[in-house]
Amino acid sequence: MSDFKQQLKRHQQQSEQALHRFLPSIETQPQRLHKAMRYVVISGGKRIRPTLTYATGLALGVELSTLDRPACALELIHAYSLVHDDLPSMDDDDLRRGRPTCHKQFDEATAILVGDALQALAFELLADPDNAPLCAEQRLRMIQSLSHASGSLGMVGGQALDLDAVGNLLSQADLEAMHRKKTGALIRAAVRLGALCAPNIDEQSLKQLDHYAAAIGLTFQIVDDILDVTSDTQILGKPQGSDIASNKPTYPALLGLAGAQHHAKQMHQQALTSLEGLDGNFQTLRSLADYILQRRF
Ligand code: IPE
Ligand code: IPE
Ligand code: MG
Ligand code: MG
Ligand code: MG
Repeated sequence: MSDFKQQLKRHQQQSEQALHRFLPSIETQPQRLHKAMRYVVISGGKRIRPTLTYATGLALGVELSTLDRPACALELIHAYSLVHDDLPSMDDDDLRRGRPTCHKQFDEATAILVGDALQALAFELLADPDNAPLCAEQRLRMIQSLSHASGSLGMVGGQALDLDAVGNLLSQADLEAMHRKKTGALIRAAVRLGALCAPNIDEQSLKQLDHYAAAIGLTFQIVDDILDVTSDTQILGKPQGSDIASNKPTYPALLGLAGAQHHAKQMHQQALTSLEGLDGNFQTLRSLADYILQRRF
């Protein structure tokens, strides 16, 4: 296994152990809700967002354990967004991470509540004063960043644009604006939260890291759109062809497959350029950019 693959595995395992600790047990009332929360979170996603938080923080000298709460907060918001994204009133998908979606395995009301509860838990983790090395101001800045990225100017806004756009051919600028919100905002927050855990992080470094994150965020969603066309359900763990079936505006629909692939490569290159001159060892972030471009699921 390459050094990067090992590193990725370590971050995935670290986030999974931490998620296991932070989620209420299935013996805790209301048991069905907690069972459903664990069902959707502990289910083998790629853990790209927590990995970005760990990799950014570690590159800036932050202790691994300090990064557990922000890394998990990102994954919890992401998991909630997936549960709601799959609902019948949204993408109406039955398969997620190779298993029935939450509303199929449980029921629709439970799926809505699971999303609500995961979102609240994310912010509780960020606010937790037990994360001792972080001062109150750092915790507050993290809460502000993640709430902004999650809300109507971020992920939720992007989801609203996505639903509004069904059946329409968007301009490339509008498609990009939608992708930047629906997927890009949380990926940017993943990097930013890792950086905010470094006590003396300067504005210039935050800005460069943000450029990197915005570029890989766009790469990530272009590749997601491409895989919806080119991959298969078994490998993806979610229904291939869902975008076409729902008439979603996507990069391949707008630019064709080759055009979308070319654009993803351009964004990947922008991400690498953004890291130049930064103080720290950002090799893992560079490898993550490669992984996001080359991933098969
Ligand atoms: C899928 O995200 C949804 C999008 C934002 C495009 P991921 O591809 O990161 O899903 P998991 O977490 O690995 O299942
Ligand atoms: C989902 O985008 C983005 C969020 C959940 C915020 P998609 O609808 O393309 O994600 P998949 O393809 O269902 O994973
Ligand atoms: Mg969707
Ligand atoms: Mg979807
Ligand atoms: Mg998709």
